[in-house]
Amino acid sequence: MPKPIDALGRLGTETAFEVLARAQQLAAEGRDIINLGIGQPDFRTPDHIVEAAKSALDSGAHGYTPAAGIPRLREAVAADLNRRHQVEVDASRVLITPGAKPVMYFAILLFGEPGAEIMYPNPGFPIYESLINFTGAVPVPIELHEATGFSFDAGQLLEKITDRTRLIILNSPENPTGGVVPAGEIEKLLEGLEARPEIAILSDEIYSRILYGGREHVSLLQYPTIRDRLIVIDGWSKTYAMTGWRIGYGIWPEKFFPHAERLAINSYSCVNAVAQHAAVAALEGPQDEVRKMVAVFDERRELIVRELNNIPGFRCTDPGGAFYTFPNITGTGLDSITLQQKLLEEKGVAVVAGTSFGKMGEGYLRFSYAASSEEILDAMGRIRDLLAH
Ligand SMILES: Cc1ncc(COP(=O)(O)O)c(C=O)c1O
Repeated sequence: MPKPIDALGRLGTETAFEVLARAQQLAAEGRDIINLGIGQPDFRTPDHIVEAAKSALDSGAHGYTPAAGIPRLREAVAADLNRRHQVEVDASRVLITPGAKPVMYFAILLFGEPGAEIMYPNPGFPIYESLINFTGAVPVPIELHEATGFSFDAGQLLEKITDRTRLIILNSPENPTGGVVPAGEIEKLLEGLEARPEIAILSDEIYSRILYGGREHVSLLQYPTIRDRLIVIDGWSKTYAMTGWRIGYGIWPEKFFPHAERLAINSYSCVNAVAQHAAVAALEGPQDEVRKMVAVFDERRELIVRELNNIPGFRCTDPGGAFYTFPNITGTGLDSITLQQKLLEEKGVAVVAGTSFGKMGEGYLRFSYAASSEEILDAMGRIRDLLAH
């Protein structure tokens, strides 16, 4: 019997996909399911983007493209970053990827090996910890607490740095908490990191356009002193409701870009050509659909936070960004996974247990509010009902 490598036993997963599969199975059996589990907008990709894809298909964009992406798209990304963050990014540092995920894969492969330590947010996107473990590096959690709006404490983070720290992963706005890191905390962190120029930083900014309450996104690209060791993740999946198109990008320091490009060539060659043309249209076309979508999310955010705080045993902070909220459910007397399962199996409400996002998620559930207000209200009624019996 062939024996695959041991490291595969250390690879984790993204439970949200398992919850989605179970929810779909229940729906196929005729159950009435409300899905607040999956992390994708419940909107269609804007029409002008779909039209650009159709015309790319008609005009023959059928072949391979350069591994790093078509030049027009790489330039459009650089121009977009300049518009949004007032930063100069050379198009030669933009690597177009099939979804944003491969950027985290490549970044963690670049620095993860036995003996290395990589810091990552906990609770956080589960793939960070999974990949760190896969490489044999030690995952060192950056603990995010409800009391500080799920932002990190720069002082505590800096104290956890050792001689073995190779990479620090940050994510703001955050999945699963919706937490947003204030600029002051980022600046404290970067000040502390001045003494450790050998540590790389991976900033996952995939939710950079989805912010509430007048907040403005602080991109780590805005700090020139760390440019030579900063990798930034962003993309189209969330901003333009394009999760199924599989397109995203990474901004790489000049000296690491060739490694990332080579990993691309060794794995997927290039990104689907049609999706790249659609992505140009997304960045260069009108942005009002994005604004409308964020305004709708904002209304739902207010609704869901208010409603969750009215459920006995629940306590919910106000998320500053993304489309998730992460209520504390310890007052219900149930643990996260039990409540996740009961809600889905008994009441048809799909949500994700906080523990899917790391140890610090015990006592929490992640609600994605990528569902209509009516569905959200219906789900809240079902939760109340479950807890009352
Ligand atoms: C924090 C974070 N980063 C990256 C991704 C991956 O995005 P994509 O679908 O573009 O690969 C997600 C998706 O849920 C996410 O939540």
